[in-house]
Amino acid sequence: MFPLRTFTDTEPPPSTKRPKRITVLGATGSIGESTLDLVGRDPEAYEVVALTGCKNGTRLAELAIRHRAKLAVVADPESYGDLTAALAGTGIEAAAGQKALLDAASRPADWIMAAIVGAAGLKPTLHAVRQGTATALANKECLVSAGRIFMAEVARHGTTLLPVDSEHSAALQAMTGTEPERIERVCLTASGGPFRTWSLEQMAAAGPEQALKHPNWSMGAKVTIDSATLMNKGLELLEAHHLFALAPEKLDVLVHPQSIVHCLVQMSDGAVLAQLSCPDMRTPIAYSLAWPERMHVPNERLDLAQIGSLTFEAPDLERFPALRLAKEALAAGGSAGTVLNAANEVAVAAFLEKRLGFLAIAGLVESTLAACPDLICLGPQTADDVLEIDEETRRRARGWLPRFA
Ligand SMILES: NC(=O)c1ccc[n+]([C@@H]2O[C@H](COP(=O)([O-])OP(=O)(O)OC[C@H]3O[C@@H](n4cnc5c(N)ncnc54)[C@H](OP(=O)(O)O)[C@@H]3O)[C@@H](O)[C@H]2O)c1
Repeated sequence: MFPLRTFTDTEPPPSTKRPKRITVLGATGSIGESTLDLVGRDPEAYEVVALTGCKNGTRLAELAIRHRAKLAVVADPESYGDLTAALAGTGIEAAAGQKALLDAASRPADWIMAAIVGAAGLKPTLHAVRQGTATALANKECLVSAGRIFMAEVARHGTTLLPVDSEHSAALQAMTGTEPERIERVCLTASGGPFRTWSLEQMAAAGPEQALKHPNWSMGAKVTIDSATLMNKGLELLEAHHLFALAPEKLDVLVHPQSIVHCLVQMSDGAVLAQLSCPDMRTPIAYSLAWPERMHVPNERLDLAQIGSLTFEAPDLERFPALRLAKEALAAGGSAGTVLNAANEVAVAAFLEKRLGFLAIAGLVESTLAACPDLICLGPQTADDVLEIDEETRRRARGWLPRFA
């Protein structure tokens, strides 16, 4: 039965007698806030162990107070002053820095949301996995960068790993109950982003203001830019490969501008199972929070008569080369995912700072992949090894940035 590697059959469902102890890494972000929106609708059902942020100490303190968290941690020590000022007199423990972040992730909890953005989420998420805490994984970069090592840790600690990306949550729901060898193909859908119908000339002139206007989803800046380049879908292919142990040739992408069908799973008897819902991340987050049960989410219900038609098209790899690059990294294996992800993080940050054009995001990633065969062929054994490759890739990509500016 699917999925064999990511779920433990032995772990009992959480007791309904005591509140579920939860931690949210990346609480001040889009996924973190959506998670806490669900939690806040039934406060007696949850005990908030820890909330973490990075730079937004004031918002973190507000969330910690509202949700009666025991601990609030900012990764950026410069935000500690804002956090402690806003928490004064509340009795909520405050801390800052990397060590404190890892401590927050390691505190005993029943469920943790891993929603830090980027490779920065790898170590804290691994700390939670090693405690055996059921882990809701929004941070796809963990799997893109360190999939083999991450999944080995999940297996070693018998940790329940629940995907939060809407496509992977949909895939899990569609595949549950089916033998892995009966899955022929898993097709992730992509909205196509704001530039789906734009020409290359138009995209060349696009800045962050245009790229941040996602047609269907409200998300953090980095993932929104990744959606505009279609790198996000490429990262999700790598994520699905590791998460579900699916060979690259079984994975595919289809552009579906309405973002209603999140994934299509084709079975060996020709049946295709899909999961549909309005584009609202609270649905997949709720699936991971209530698993193996379901919970009530008061969001918009799907009205297909009103929507009228659902359309699908093949992705255009000429205008969206980032998806091609991710497919190539998936096929290459080794540390190609680590290099791809690190170069992309450098490129997206530079684009958001207006130091790089939109088309140069994929350009920098492609050049970095081509120029780093020595890194791609490395076989890291630990998360620290992965982070060394990540850091060296960033160093080189930053050095090449001026050529693309
Ligand atoms: N948003 C979505 O709808 C969506 C959907 C699917 C998957 N995802 C994935 O979920 C993850 C989070 O996305 P998001 O959209 O929620 O991002 P976001 O809104 O940018 O939030 C990112 C969170 O990570 C924290 N953070 C940033 N840098 C950090 C660092 N170096 N160390 C520790 N914490 C750090 C931020 O803290 P501060 O804000 O305090 O600085 C914030 O809490 C990403 O991997 C994304 O791909 C998101």
